[in-house]
Amino acid sequence: MNIWPRNTSIENGEIYIAGISAQDLAKEFGTPAFIIDEDDFRSRIQEFRSALDITFGNENSGIFYAGKAFLSVQIAKWLAEEGVGLDVCSGGELAVAIAAKFPANRIEVHGNNKSAAEIRSAIEIGVYVIVADSLHEIERIEDIAKQLGKKQAILLRLTPGIEAHTHEFIATAHEDVKFGFSIASGAAAIATKKALDATHIELRGFHCHIGSQIFDSNGFDIAAQRVIEFMAEMKAVHAIEFPDLDLGGGFGIAYVASDTPQSIDSVINRMHEIVLGECKKHGLAIPHLSIEPGRAIAGPSTVTLYEVGTTKEVNLDGGQRRNYISVDGGMSDNIRPALYGAQYSVQLANRTSTSPLTSSRVVGKHCESGDIIIREVELPSDVKPGDILAIPATGAYGRSMASNYNHQPRPPVIAVRNGQARVILRRENAADLLNLEVNS
Ligand code: LLP
Repeated sequence: MNIWPRNTSIENGEIYIAGISAQDLAKEFGTPAFIIDEDDFRSRIQEFRSALDITFGNENSGIFYAGKAFLSVQIAKWLAEEGVGLDVCSGGELAVAIAAKFPANRIEVHGNNKSAAEIRSAIEIGVYVIVADSLHEIERIEDIAKQLGKKQAILLRLTPGIEAHTHEFIATAHEDVKFGFSIASGAAAIATKKALDATHIELRGFHCHIGSQIFDSNGFDIAAQRVIEFMAEMKAVHAIEFPDLDLGGGFGIAYVASDTPQSIDSVINRMHEIVLGECKKHGLAIPHLSIEPGRAIAGPSTVTLYEVGTTKEVNLDGGQRRNYISVDGGMSDNIRPALYGAQYSVQLANRTSTSPLTSSRVVGKHCESGDIIIREVELPSDVKPGDILAIPATGAYGRSMASNYNHQPRPPVIAVRNGQARVILRRENAADLLNLEVNS
């Protein structure tokens, strides 16, 4: 499986992204740096869009890009240009959308504990929908909408009771989880009644998101079946057919060549088949179908460039040796290996090497043994300080989960397209890090 952005080429051992060499990018913008192939990012939105157009139809389906995967003002502008919606899950993400002048009526608001201020600002600007996650929140939305003299559209987030096959920390739809209203326990039915009784709320339908980095479509199938069955039950009780169904995100991508995610087309085709079949079975009209891909749009578009600072060979039990290659970033720009045991691939990006491959570990510069980017990889034995390493598929949950641990400035994001590079998020500097200090 290809793990590089679509406009990547390799010439004489040098990696080029959208026509610009990794070496030139590193020279001009420094390292570490996230390099985003703008056309790759846009092309994945277009793929989701055309798969939905062909199946559910353009008017009857929507995409809300999950901003948590990676969001900046420029990204919000690309989304607006591509004609898709945005899922925000905090006041901060909403602020980015507002700064980008993103159309409010294409924003969906998530979060299991939205503050009153977040709800107020969402209602004030006129977001398309708020996805309610608890009874407290239904009350809060009702109160605030009433104060503002508005009626707010909402969806209810449901927990269909699915054990999705992914890392425990990114599975979200089993029973013992903080998200959503359980269908099985009756909580979802109670929430539906409460939302219908609220006078400043328009309950448009239901949402579920079963987890992230999912390869196996079975979980999506069962989730859709259970939510549609629930919609039929609610129709029977309340005599209302809800117009909206949102099946969330979670579509997996390839991080290493052996990963085999399904194509966007096949995921959407399957979803269409299931939704159609279930609606027919329960005598429901096909609802407006939304999805919230984050990783599958942002992830494959981006490569992280690091510069090698030091290398060091250590002896392992059994007489083998391992080359520790330290780069100038690490867990502050990619927490995923430490947090989820995530695997990545790496390539020497600035030259070819004919040296024999040797067992290597790519590590960061942080003060932790667990600051490992790639635990075990064969790399040429002559990798040396000053070399550039490229790690693909870092566009989702890399920069967005980056931290200032060890007072490390967060890396920039550089958009490349047709041989041109431009900074869309600049590198932090010492002044940024000191900005919050209050000298009394
Ligand atoms: N919708 C909802 C309600 C979500 O909670 C999420 C992700 C998405 C959509 C987008 O999921 P995606 O298509 O990106 O898989 N930090 C973790 C992933 C956490 C995902 C949280 N929610 C990671 O790095 O793997």
